[in-house]
Amino acid sequence: MGAEPSAIMPTLKPAVRLKPMRGYALAHAHHPSLIRMIDPSHAFFLSLCSGGLNLREIAYLYGETFGLAEPERVEQAGQLLELYRMFLDFHQQRGQATPRFAPERFLYPGDDAVIAAAAHGKWPVPAGINVTLTFKCNFNCSYCYQDLLQAGDQRWDLAKCTDLVDEAADWGVVFLGLTGGEPTIFRGWLELIERGLSRGMIPTMTSNGTVIGTSAEFAQRLAAAGMEEITISFDAPTADLHDAVTQSRGHFPKVVAAIRYLVDAGLRVVIKSVLTPATQHAIEPMIEMLVDLGVHEIGISYMESGAIKSGANSAPNVTIDELGAVRARVQALRERHAGRCDIHPPKDATRKWKDDDWYPCGGINMGMSIFPSGDVSVCDKMHKVSDFTYGNVFEAGLEAIWNGDAFAALRARTVDPDHIDPDCAKCSKLYSCRTSCFVDSFNATGKYLAKDPHCGGPFFN
Ligand SMILES: C[S@@+](CC[C@H](N)C(=O)[O-])C[C@H]1O[C@@H](n2cnc3c(N)ncnc32)[C@H](O)[C@@H]1O
Ligand code: SF4
Ligand code: SF4
Repeated sequence: MGAEPSAIMPTLKPAVRLKPMRGYALAHAHHPSLIRMIDPSHAFFLSLCSGGLNLREIAYLYGETFGLAEPERVEQAGQLLELYRMFLDFHQQRGQATPRFAPERFLYPGDDAVIAAAAHGKWPVPAGINVTLTFKCNFNCSYCYQDLLQAGDQRWDLAKCTDLVDEAADWGVVFLGLTGGEPTIFRGWLELIERGLSRGMIPTMTSNGTVIGTSAEFAQRLAAAGMEEITISFDAPTADLHDAVTQSRGHFPKVVAAIRYLVDAGLRVVIKSVLTPATQHAIEPMIEMLVDLGVHEIGISYMESGAIKSGANSAPNVTIDELGAVRARVQALRERHAGRCDIHPPKDATRKWKDDDWYPCGGINMGMSIFPSGDVSVCDKMHKVSDFTYGNVFEAGLEAIWNGDAFAALRARTVDPDHIDPDCAKCSKLYSCRTSCFVDSFNATGKYLAKDPHCGGPFFN
């Protein structure tokens, strides 16, 4: 029999953080896929989940603080536990109390209107900025979704990017995403990560590993600065196949070295691998190799469509039957390596999203994508798509752009029945979804605001 519900010890998961903001608080993990705007009193409750208190004791402290008597305090504590399950572990035994976030930091009034507006897609501060540091790349991957032939602005350099990081940190932005092209080709990429970390931000970066693999020092500096996780792209287990997919020569040993250096330095290494007709037969040896190298997570993805001029839009993709076969093979490896490496098979591209696995794009609601031209857009695939470009960082500050008329008009367009698909217009998820992926819709139909081709909606609850 399990323990009495009030005797369990809810404990914040190690990667979870709580951050006070004006009128609300943030609960999040070290990746932007898990972040919630919550009432400060809820963050107060979560801050008490330290492993040393059981639910009844937490309810007591919560009730005494906010003037709630029994049984209301116990009921509310139970509801909060349900609401924030994704941030908690549950222990049956009392452990060492290790408070990580001072509860008194969350004793300020929440602003219901701000929190409700976020549910309607207007975050007061974006959760993250996603910076395309450069369009340049030393690879030319056959599947790449980016248009790598675009030009940046002469003024785009480390000083400008450092100012952007400082501005974002001052404003309260949590995540600093760095991408490209190949972000490590940008002069100063490591200093930028160090700056973000020193300002309390959480940097995330996806890299092809060619620069990081030239010296163990990069990985060591990242670890010393406090970088927790990094994503490395890796698609093939042999040098020849790697050369073929990346349409480059001789980089394979450096990429393997990068993974080794990063694992040795103690970073959590996530591998992102894109399935292509050329690499699908080498999935097993590739996964075995990566597990032996000690990576923590491997995500295999089906090739997505990309920016308007990207190679991905004309590159051959695996067939649906081939995808099914790969999914089964990867699933078997997932089970074999469970507990050692978290392996994600590619999604079933034929299955339309259902209500319970619907996946909106967060770009327009929660993030800003910034390009070397200075343009700000909703997505790193949408450079120079004028309808979705709502500012330029050489002309205005981030906060002014986020709160500016151009972005307000764009937001309004994405829920306007005159512009969107009739299915979306009647869908209950419209304000958080906003028709989802504009790029996939455009590549499928020629219209950015068409209903996402992967969606099985509309939904009505
Ligand atoms: C555009 S790259 C930029 C960062 C870096 N150059 C790299 O490759 O890691 C970002 C990520 O997108 C992935 N990617 C590129 N094209 C893709 C496509 N068509 N479908 C799915 N993922 C893709 C890459 O594998 C990489 O993990
Ligand atoms: S996926 Fe990354 S490494 Fe490959 S060509 Fe695109 S930007 Fe370069
Ligand atoms: S019907 Fe439209 S708004 Fe609703 S979930 Fe699908 S894409 Fe999003």
